[in-house]
Amino acid sequence: MKALVLAGGRGTRLRPLTHTSAKQLVPVANKPVLYYGLEAIREAGITSVGIIVGDTADEVRRAVGDGARFGLEVTYIPQEEPLGLAHCVLIAREFLGDDPFVMYLGDNFLIGGIAGVVDAFRRSRHDAQILLTRVAEPRFYGVAELGPGGEILGLEEKPEHPRSDLAIVGVYIFSPAVHEAVRAITPSARGELEITDAVTWLIGNGFRVHSHFVDGYWRDTGRLQDMLECNRIVLELIEPDVRGTVDGLSEVTGRVVVERGAVVENSILRGPIVVGADTKIINSYVGPFTSIGAGCVVERAEIDYSMVLDGSSVRGVSRVSHSLIGRNVEVSRATGVPNTHELMVGDHSRIQVGA
Ligand code: DAU
Repeated sequence: MKALVLAGGRGTRLRPLTHTSAKQLVPVANKPVLYYGLEAIREAGITSVGIIVGDTADEVRRAVGDGARFGLEVTYIPQEEPLGLAHCVLIAREFLGDDPFVMYLGDNFLIGGIAGVVDAFRRSRHDAQILLTRVAEPRFYGVAELGPGGEILGLEEKPEHPRSDLAIVGVYIFSPAVHEAVRAITPSARGELEITDAVTWLIGNGFRVHSHFVDGYWRDTGRLQDMLECNRIVLELIEPDVRGTVDGLSEVTGRVVVERGAVVENSILRGPIVVGADTKIINSYVGPFTSIGAGCVVERAEIDYSMVLDGSSVRGVSRVSHSLIGRNVEVSRATGVPNTHELMVGDHSRIQVGA
């Protein structure tokens, strides 16, 4: 069994972060989303992994390398344009050979791993296995309609009027039969070769397609509220570990990770939170479900339920909440001019000020 990880595409919904970096590398609890997927693949006993890369290829290559530190052997497969999930299978034909494989969308986040479903597929005689879960807003996903016996009646990609609330999770398992399917289908109205069409083709041509419900937590991290939710879930599971320096005036409660080189002075850290390496937290409050990246400064500020990426600073501001702050960003208090907000914000940003 091999794995095909999709880390190309455009991150339009997480702009402006994804103008400059791959959406699969946005960190959850200070670790890129993609790493969680690669670890799940290794735990399922798979070591040969092809990674589809697009415009952000260099960054993905830098982050994953040859895969050795994950116990994987990684082959990069460049995709010139994001022409669809089934297009990724098409261009990976040589790498995949005639092995069955897991297709893992690099921006998907699944707690509980995939070892169980991979084992079930290995024991079965199925040609494809899709994972499903109930969601509140199915129109943002591929949607499956099931018959009374659980058989798949139809699949639709982001339908305007969904026939069920069963979303397709971004982990699929295929036998080599899928190669015929991806060659047979044509681009959809949005110009992509859709994997949902390939699976529909398999069903229509008598191949055995099985669906399986995901019992664990799952999110597509393409949107801000989902990123913050993933961050919360992972932080709830972290083991407390303080390697940096916390002074006697500070108060640390709950699950708190303070990485090496970080300095905490006269501050309240209320877990679960993670503070990255070489970050300074001074005269501040950092509240639950917050991850602060490496090399950041939080000074005279209050922040909770937020993610701050590497190299950013938050000074003199309270309270920052439900926020995702990108890399090398400065958030500070305007001085000298009362009641003004002074902003220099990149394209496609979103700012909500309290008053
Ligand atoms: O997250 C689950 C959903 O993922 C499913 O419910 C949908 O059926 C499925 O189509 C997919 O929808 P998204 O709109 O979320 O797909 P997205 O364009 O975000 O692409 C998913 C991943 O694959 C992402 O890491 C980028 C990568 N990708 C995407 C395309 C279209 C590529 O590497 N190449 C591509 O051509």
